[in-house]
Amino acid sequence: MPEVTPVRAACIILAAGSGSRLGAEVPKAFALLAGEPLLAHAVRKLLASQTIDQLVVVAPPDWLGQAEKVAAAMAAGQASVRMSVVVGGAERQDSVAAGLEALADDVQIVLVHDAARCLAPPSLVVRVADAVGAGHAAVVPGLPVADTIKRVAGSPGGRERVAETVDRNELRIAQTPQGFDRSTLVSAHTAAREQSAQVLTPLVERFGAAGAAAALAPLYTDDAEMAELVTDVVIVPGDPLAFKITSAQDLAYAEWVLSRER
Ligand code: C5P
Repeated sequence: MPEVTPVRAACIILAAGSGSRLGAEVPKAFALLAGEPLLAHAVRKLLASQTIDQLVVVAPPDWLGQAEKVAAAMAAGQASVRMSVVVGGAERQDSVAAGLEALADDVQIVLVHDAARCLAPPSLVVRVADAVGAGHAAVVPGLPVADTIKRVAGSPGGRERVAETVDRNELRIAQTPQGFDRSTLVSAHTAAREQSAQVLTPLVERFGAAGAAAALAPLYTDDAEMAELVTDVVIVPGDPLAFKITSAQDLAYAEWVLSRER
């Protein structure tokens, strides 16, 4: 029987957001969960998958030293994993671009992961990397939607109106880690930049540079959305433990999950 070589991937782990919704004094990825920064938990789960051979942590400029400390502590005993820390950008998309620049030449599969989804289990990391290894250029873990979803139309000054009820059977909640063939992810970012520039030019003329940037900020909220510009994106089953820590309640829930794990 031919020997099966396990899939190996690089992971860009995003920790450069401010996390203002968490209400903590520190950027979200550095908020403490069971005495350790979310970033440390996220790195531990990634390494436990035995799938990652390069890890690039993307951190806020003022938190580079802290991120380096976390990376160094986690790197102990992991000689086969190349770790580095780079400075992120203003938007998530800029932070991923900074991570892409730091990838080693030999990397072919890239995972992009939110440090805020710090309890995403190793089995999910393997599932995503394996799907890319099996030939899918862009892979997103997705969960079914339990609630009924309404699309609303704004009515200035008044109540929102329901424009339509969306068929929830067609919806998935997108999680991370998302996985990509490296060249696909690079092309996706290039396509997204080109598209943003096309949208940006008339906005700059109308609102000036700052106003245009503000209008564009939420254009891409994950990498799969950019990948959709250049390739088919497939879904693999997500995991409820890959939830994103956004609020203080999420953090309390994560504490409870960890206490059960231990
Ligand atoms: O803000 P949100 O929760 O959507 O951020 C998702 C992830 O992206 C977080 O882990 C956050 O640290 C990261 N991020 C980043 N750079 C930014 C914005 C967000 O690395 N400029």
